[in-house]
Amino acid sequence: MAYRILLPLLGILAALAWGATWFVNGTTRSWFERDVQLRTRLVAAGAREALATYFRAGDRQKLAAVLDEIARDDRIMAAALCTPSMKPLARTSALPSRYACDALAKRGVVDAPKAGLDLFEEPDGGLVHAAVVPILDDDRIVAQLVVVHDLSFVARREAAMRRFTVGAFAVVALLASIATLLVRRFTWHRWTEEILRVLTLGRGVVWGPRTRQEKRFGPLLSDLRAMMTELASDQGVSAGGKWTPERLHGVLTDSLDGDRVVILANREPYVHDRGPDGAVHVQHPASGLVTALEPVMRACSGVWVAHGSGSADREVVDRRDRVLVPPGEESYAIRRVWLSESEERGYYYGFSNEGLWPLCHLVYTRPVFRVEDWRQYQSVNRRFADAVCEEVEGPDPVVLVQDYHFALAPRMIRERLPRATIISFWHIPWPNAERFGVCPWHREVLDGMLGSSILGFHTQQHCNNFLEAVDRFLEARIDRERNAVVLGGRESLVRPYPISIEWPDRRAATAPPVPRCRREVFAELGLGPDALLGVGVDRLDYTKGIEDRLLAVERLLERFPRFRGRFTFAQLAAPSRTLIPEYRALSERVDALASRINGRFAEGAWKPVVVLRAHHEPPAVFRYLRAADLCYVSSLHDGMNLVAKEFLAARDDERGVLVLSRFTGASRELTEALLVNPYDLEEASAALATALAMPPAEQAERMRAMRAHVGEFNVYRWAGRMLADAARLRKRDRLTNRLSIAGASEDDEALPRAGSPSPCARR
Ligand code: G6P
Repeated sequence: MAYRILLPLLGILAALAWGATWFVNGTTRSWFERDVQLRTRLVAAGAREALATYFRAGDRQKLAAVLDEIARDDRIMAAALCTPSMKPLARTSALPSRYACDALAKRGVVDAPKAGLDLFEEPDGGLVHAAVVPILDDDRIVAQLVVVHDLSFVARREAAMRRFTVGAFAVVALLASIATLLVRRFTWHRWTEEILRVLTLGRGVVWGPRTRQEKRFGPLLSDLRAMMTELASDQGVSAGGKWTPERLHGVLTDSLDGDRVVILANREPYVHDRGPDGAVHVQHPASGLVTALEPVMRACSGVWVAHGSGSADREVVDRRDRVLVPPGEESYAIRRVWLSESEERGYYYGFSNEGLWPLCHLVYTRPVFRVEDWRQYQSVNRRFADAVCEEVEGPDPVVLVQDYHFALAPRMIRERLPRATIISFWHIPWPNAERFGVCPWHREVLDGMLGSSILGFHTQQHCNNFLEAVDRFLEARIDRERNAVVLGGRESLVRPYPISIEWPDRRAATAPPVPRCRREVFAELGLGPDALLGVGVDRLDYTKGIEDRLLAVERLLERFPRFRGRFTFAQLAAPSRTLIPEYRALSERVDALASRINGRFAEGAWKPVVVLRAHHEPPAVFRYLRAADLCYVSSLHDGMNLVAKEFLAARDDERGVLVLSRFTGASRELTEALLVNPYDLEEASAALATALAMPPAEQAERMRAMRAHVGEFNVYRWAGRMLADAARLRKRDRLTNRLSIAGASEDDEALPRAGSPSPCARR
């Protein structure tokens, strides 16, 4: 029955889609044409005075200089100046011969000396606009200005518009089909009762066992709900298809008119260290931020501005403190900023890691705020903001500011580059307003961050906390509907973007097979072939719950003696922030705890706990993750935690169990993991026992579901969604800017204009 309604409906929608595409293309083409005509008139009006003066003085060199200045505009290909009868006076070097003064006269397209021409042509397949505008001096035409615009971008925009229109109609078609089916179903089954039931289901409140009809509607509703959530969160941008490096790069070039980004992050992705052998080694630091952003940078190319922290970092940079990476591939540059010991102590160890880090993590470690640390934080943020400004290439670059080290940099960059698109991402949790207010400089931190165009957090809860803090501490307008803050007339969007890892993971392609990893790791740890292995991978940080993890292993052995002599937990612990007393104390406590547990349970050559306190390079970490029966991520509070996702990437054999703290951002996505409260040793030890006894088929089922999720929600999607949101903002700003230029009075001349060089851009 339903197809009788559906088929004609879909036919009508397809015809409408075709008609809309035709109409939209025609309309946008005429907008572009009007826009370029307006731009040409503005250019001519701006240059008229200078041209007339130099024409009177007969100074051809100055005339040529004015033409060069006109052609600096991104979209203007060339310019020329002719006599009223179209004889050449001056021209820019890139002027195509068909638009030279005499060529235009010969082609008969100019009615000299009345002049005036608007010519749209596609000489080599790319759209070009050539205009001839008379230059008047005392109401007399003294010269003709030829301005040639390159409009090849119009074709790209039209293609994007076509894709968008077709996509939008496809969604409408889908919704219409679903609505038709629903209407049919509702009519068939006593519809009033069904509506009541559906509403109850829609609210997620189901009292008692489900009826047959509820069951029948359950899958349909959950699909609908999933689709609506997807639409709401993506606003259609990422609809359909996998996110790949190529697709991400496409968003950057097609939607943002850029082909590179500038990332600002304290930690650099490659550290050059001089080893004890005297040779320079490249190290990949243990940092979730680096794990996530490095593949994004490979895909987008550009510059990563970071603290040069390696002992041989200075030896490998060029005169501008840059080095091309990844070694051997060289697809982007690291720009290193050098910090003095006192700057590093105040900005990095002090305000960032003794102040903001414990402030944002609910782990009962007291934050410390010192005024001298704050001063260093301010001045170091300024230095990094300056470095960013030196690296950008135009007045409206795309800048990605990362993490709590740079809360003030967005505002500082905004002051220098008012038209930049600044996307800031906060990789750690954001606390509630009451807690945040403990920071003596909470207003300055918020104001600094609101220099961003977009502010990203891992979860909606962190966004809510941020908005609550703005509401409480700043005189700003909060647009709850759009999740935006308006401060000083400028808007910052506040959005959740849960971060992820690259997928497929490059390491998975080259890693040894799982049985070999298992053999090698078991041999390194002195384990027998029947042993069971648990793995933890972390920086030695008090937020990671390493002590609670070892206590859970101890409790497991107490409660389930069958694992004694068989189960070993290997903790890969990378030393971190070792100048901070709290971190040194933690390291000592972990050692003492491991010794105590081993003292209690070790038998012969078997030890229940092995702490490998060293930096492990990514392939070594991957080998341990592939060898393990379980991975326990027990963070007490964590923005996301990418080790959990890396474990999934490592297990292409679909074996192994993830035991995951509920207090990680990752636990909201990875619901097929065994979720635990790491403070609750009974629950955590029971989960470890369940993991060790889980049948292979169940392991595979859980692994498959989680791997599919991370495969889809990979880091390219994370970055792509932020860039797509930025592109929308940028389009809107451009339009506003254009409208304000069109209506500008003489007094507005000082305003920054599209195409004008930035105050700090390199030439
Ligand atoms: C966390 C932070 C990152 C930081 C990483 C490692 O993941 O969010 O910004 O890079 O820890 O810490 P480190 O102090 O060594 O850079």
